[in-house]
Amino acid sequence: MAVNPKQEIARLREEIEHHNHLYYILDRPEISDAEYDALFRRLSQLESEHPDLVSPDSPTQRVGATPAENFATICHSIPMLSLGNAFDEDGLRDFDRRVRGILQLDEVDYVAEPKLDGLSVELVYRRGVFEQGSTRGDGRHGEDVTANLRTIPSIPLRLRAHNGAVPELLEIRGEVYIERADLLELNARRESDGLPPFANPRNLAAGSLRQLDPSVTAERPLRIYCYDVGRIEGLTIESQAALLDVLPRLGLRVNPLYEVSRGIEPAIDFYRRLMEEREELPYETDGAVVKVDDFEARRTAGTVSRSPRWAIAGKFPAQQEITRLTDIVVSVGRTGVLTPVAILEPVRIHGVEVTSATLHNEDEIERKGVLIGDTVVVQRAGDVIPQVVKPLPEHRTGTERPFTMPTRCPACGTEVVRFEGEVARRCVNTSCPARFQQSILHFIGRGGLDVEGLGYKLVGKLVETGLVSSLADLFRLDRDALIELERVGPKLADNLLAALDEAKRVPFARFLFALGIPDVGESAAEILAGEFDSLDALTEADEETLTELPDIGPKTAAGIVRFFGNPENRATIADLRHVGLEIVLPTVPQIGGPLKGSRFVFTGTLTSMPRSDAAERVKSLGASVASNVSRTTDYVVVGENPGSKADKASDLGVRRLDEAEFLALLEEHA
Ligand code: IVH
Repeated sequence: MAVNPKQEIARLREEIEHHNHLYYILDRPEISDAEYDALFRRLSQLESEHPDLVSPDSPTQRVGATPAENFATICHSIPMLSLGNAFDEDGLRDFDRRVRGILQLDEVDYVAEPKLDGLSVELVYRRGVFEQGSTRGDGRHGEDVTANLRTIPSIPLRLRAHNGAVPELLEIRGEVYIERADLLELNARRESDGLPPFANPRNLAAGSLRQLDPSVTAERPLRIYCYDVGRIEGLTIESQAALLDVLPRLGLRVNPLYEVSRGIEPAIDFYRRLMEEREELPYETDGAVVKVDDFEARRTAGTVSRSPRWAIAGKFPAQQEITRLTDIVVSVGRTGVLTPVAILEPVRIHGVEVTSATLHNEDEIERKGVLIGDTVVVQRAGDVIPQVVKPLPEHRTGTERPFTMPTRCPACGTEVVRFEGEVARRCVNTSCPARFQQSILHFIGRGGLDVEGLGYKLVGKLVETGLVSSLADLFRLDRDALIELERVGPKLADNLLAALDEAKRVPFARFLFALGIPDVGESAAEILAGEFDSLDALTEADEETLTELPDIGPKTAAGIVRFFGNPENRATIADLRHVGLEIVLPTVPQIGGPLKGSRFVFTGTLTSMPRSDAAERVKSLGASVASNVSRTTDYVVVGENPGSKADKASDLGVRRLDEAEFLALLEEHA
C-alpha cells in the first residue's frame, strides 16, 4: 500500500526521535548506527523530494543555519543566578544552619548533585518545540545561541509528551559540557592540526557555543545535563526531585548521579564520596551543588546579591602540588609564535605525572612573578593542561634568576618581532627549522595529507639529519636513507614510503589546509576548494574576489593573496608538483547517490588503488569520508598494515570491510 509522503515523513521523524532519545538521553540504544542512519537517509531523501514538508523541528535540520554576524542579546525572564561557595564540610553545615534559621525548620530536605564544569544555558520550549537557547551572560542578559544549541544531539528539538501533553512553556537551565575523553581526543587532533588546545572543558564549551558558524559547533562533542527551571506554564513541578524525575520523561537529559538528602549529613556524605571518586567520572566536576528540595521553601528563602539562599556549591580543593621549576625553555610554533614553557621536577597530580607547564607568554610570567629555580605551586584543577599557579617566594635561596624572553629565535637565531597589539613574539624567518618542523607536522597531519605513521619524533630526525629540508623532500625519501635512521627498520620504512606515496594524491581542500595559509582552517579550505576550479585559479584571485566568498573575511583574503604572492611559497608548490603531488579536484557528489549519507573511514594501504582514489570513488557515490572512527561511521575500510582505527571500529561495533569486500561494494553500487 502506498503511504503518502507526509505520513511517512511524520513516522520517520517520530522513529528517529525515539532512537535519539534512547541513544542520547537514556544511553540505551536499541538499533545499530547503520539502521539509524538508514532511517535518517530515508527521511533526508523524502524531505529533499518534498521541500515543502521540511520543518525546523525535523531531526535533519540541526545544522541548518548559516553563520551569523553576531549574537542577539536576550533577556532572561527570571535571572539566572550564580552560587555561593562552601570550601569544606563545615561550610556546608553553616549553610544548613542558615537555611534552617530562615525556614524555621529543624530539618530540611536537600538534593545534592555534581557541579559540572561547562557553560550554563537556558533552553526555551514553547508548546514542546525548542524555540530559543541562550547563554547565562551576566545572569539577566545572555546571548542568543539557538543555532549552536540546536547542533547538540542531546538537546531535543521537540519535547516528548508526558501524561499525554507537553507544557505550554518550559524554560530549562542546564550545563553544556564535554567529557574528558572527548576533550583529550579533540585536543590531540587540534595539536596535530597546528591549533592551540583547549585548556579546560569550560573554555571549550564557551568557545564552541560562541561560534558564529553553527557547523563548527556541530563538530564539537558537546552534551547537556539539565538541572534547573525558569518559567513553566502548563505543568506543575514543586521540588527538585520531581524536576529531575520529570525532565527525562520530557526527553531532557539529567545527570543520574544525584541524591535526595534528609537533613544535611547525607548531602555532606555525597560531597565527600564525589570528591574521592570524581577521577572515575567521565566529566570534570569541581564540587557538589546542594539545593533545598522544596520549591515553596526556596521562594521563602529568596535571593541575596545574585545568589540564592537556598543553594550552595561545596567546592573541592584544587588539585595542587608543589615542585621546583628548573628552567624555562622557549618553543617555536608553525606560525613562529614563541611560547615559554616551564620545565618542572616531575610531580604527580591526581594520577598524572607533570613535567612541564605552559607559561603562555612573557606578560603571564611577569604577572605571576615566577623566577627560574623557584619552588612553585602547580595545579591541574579541572584543567587538562597543567598550570603554574604561583611561586613560593619564602622558599627562595637567592640563586633564582629572572627569565628574559630571547630577542632571537632559539632555533634559528633570527631576531624576533613583537607585532603591535600582540602579546606574543614571533620568529619571522620562514625557513626557521623549528617552524619548518611544525609546518611539516601540519602538512602531513590529519586535516592535511594525513600520512599515517609519521610522528613528531621521526619528523624531528628527518629535519635534523637534513634528509628533509623542504616539503617536497618528503617525497624524495628513499628506503636506504630511512633505514639508516635510529629506530627505523625495513618494515617501518616500507610502510612510510607507501603512506607517502598514497598521500601524493590529495583532495584540493586538504592540500589548501595543509599549506598552512594564515587563517585558512579546514572549513575555509573547503570553501576555497569548492569555489575555484584549480589551484592556479585560486593563486591568481584578488582580495576583492576572495572577500566575496562566504566566511572569508578581509584579513583572511589578504593573507591568502600574500601567501600566493610569496615566491618562496610558489616555489614550494611547484616543487611539490614536480615530485608527483597531484591535487584532486572535488567530484560533484551525485545527489542522492546510492551511498548517500554513509560515512567511510580508511585505514592501512589498499593494493588496488591509492586511498585518495578510493575516497573519491565513495564520494562520487554520495558517501562522505572522515579521518576518525566514531559511532556515526558506517564503514571502516581496512587495508594492509592498518592503524588503530581498525581496532576502534571493532570496539564501536562499526562494520569493517577488507579490500575485497570494499571493491565488491563499489561494484555493487557503481
Ligand atoms: S543550579 C542558582 N546545578 O554553577 C542555582 N548549577 O555558580 C542554579 N552549575 O551558573 C544553578 N552544575 O553554571 C546548578 N548541578 C548544577 C550545576 C550548576 C554546574 C553551574 C551553573 C551555575 C554555576 C553557579
